[in-house]
Amino acid sequence: MYNHEGDSMTKPTKDLGNEHGAILVFLIIARALAKQLDEGNDVNKKDLEAIVDFVRTFADKCHHAKEEDQVFPQLIKKSKEYAGLVNELLGEHIAGRDFIRGIADSLPQYSAGNPHAIHVSRCLTGYADLLQKHIRTEAERLFPAMEKEFASPEAEKLWEEFKKIEHDVIGEVKHEAYHEWLKEMRAKYA
Ligand SMILES: [Fe+2]
Ligand SMILES: [Fe+2]
Repeated sequence: MYNHEGDSMTKPTKDLGNEHGAILVFLIIARALAKQLDEGNDVNKKDLEAIVDFVRTFADKCHHAKEEDQVFPQLIKKSKEYAGLVNELLGEHIAGRDFIRGIADSLPQYSAGNPHAIHVSRCLTGYADLLQKHIRTEAERLFPAMEKEFASPEAEKLWEEFKKIEHDVIGEVKHEAYHEWLKEMRAKYA
């Protein structure tokens, strides 16, 4: 686990670290599913559809929105020296969306062991490799930058914005449901 959680961190950084924890659990499931697909097993299509929903809603619309709409622009405002890091992270978000679109595109034609099953598997593995590296980069370079640049009251303001994004995109109930779903999927596949 690369999420550097700790009481010394501000709430926004800790929140992103917690979400990285959930995404890393998801990556374990993604790799297990890729293995099943490679072996020609008939993975439940509903579970594969749920994967697309999890990544698009939890990882992308919620987690990446906190980074893209709030953290990245505020860091750039502090100093242009962060432009390189932010561009790298944004580019990886785009690449992640490509993998998930790949899965969604193949699902209608998917059946056990066919070319679309293999395509879904490669997209899952590609996404897992990408996100693992991405999360490590954020823990090692983004989180220290946030801690350096956003002191109170900026961190408090950022935290309020995070809560708003979370409420608008997911809401408390659905957020809990995603964590439950992760537990069930892990028990079933990983
Ligand atoms: Fe990110
Ligand atoms: Fe992140």
